This record gives sequence, C-alpha cells and structure tokens, in this order.
Amino acid sequence: MSEGNINMSKHIARRLQPVLWAAGLLLVSGGVAAQTTPAGRLLASNCFQCHGTNGKGPGFETLAGRSSAEIYEKLVSFASGKEGQGLMARHAMGYTDAQMKSLAAWLATQK
Ligand code: HEC
Repeated sequence: MSEGNINMSKHIARRLQPVLWAAGLLLVSGGVAAQTTPAGRLLASNCFQCHGTNGKGPGFETLAGRSSAEIYEKLVSFASGKEGQGLMARHAMGYTDAQMKSLAAWLATQK
C-alpha cells in the first residue's frame, strides 16, 4: 500500500468520526429511552420502605388496590399539614403537585 492510500484512509476515518459519534449517540439514547422507568414508579420506590414493595405491604397502610384519586387526595391532605403529624406528612411535603399525581397514577395500577 502506498503512502498516499494510508493518508487517504486516515482522512476518511477522520471525516467519518462525527458521523459515527452521532450514530453512537442515537443508539445510546434510543436504548435509554426504551428502558425508561415510568416517573411514578421511580418516585414510588421511595414509598416501598414503609408501605411494602409496590405498595403491597407489609408495613404501614397498604397502598395497592386504591384508586388514583384516593391516593392523590391523601397525599395533598398530608402535604397541607392537615392530616397526620408524623412521617407521612413530612414525606408528602417534599413532592410537587405533578409528582403526587404521577405517584398516585402509578400506585393505582398496583392491584
Ligand atoms: C417513613 C415511612 C413512610 C414512607 C417512606 C411513606 N409513608 Fe405513607 N404512610 C406512613 C405512615 C406512618 C402512614 C400513616 C399515617 C401517618 O402516620 O401519618 C402513612 C399513610 C399513607 C397514606 C394514607 C393511607 C390511609 O389509608 O389513610 C398514603 C396514601 C400514603 N401513606 C402514601 C405514601 C406514598 C405515596 C409514599 C411515597 C411517596 C409514602 N406514603 C411513603 C409512612 C410512610
């Protein structure tokens, strides 16, 4: 192989680099998107320590089998400080309204 050919393939490799990078990024981001955990499930993993895995107990009140509306209303009530003085009220205060909706929606899928 002549010197010219080697230089040519190096040149092509350099030109291709950004293209390969972009293709790699697409692959990686596609993979991540496919494995994304629903937001509610991720947030709810925080509840499992006290309410059992997937809210199914054992522990404090079982959350599985309840409607999304019921769970959401309870959370809002806890967050307002009007219900419960302890653990749950403090915990609920840390979430935004959207996060509470997302939590309630996911937990309601647990039967
Ligand atoms: C540190 C323990 C702890 C964690 C973590 C926790 N809870 Fe609670 N939860 C409690 C306790 C204790 C109660 C009982 C009410 C009280 O004492 O305030 C309760 C009550 C509840 C109730 C009311 C049940 C009923 O029948 O009245 C709901 C709904 C609830 N929790 C949802 C959640 C959600 C959703 C999460 C996660 C974002 C969560 N909890 C995380 C301890 C916890």
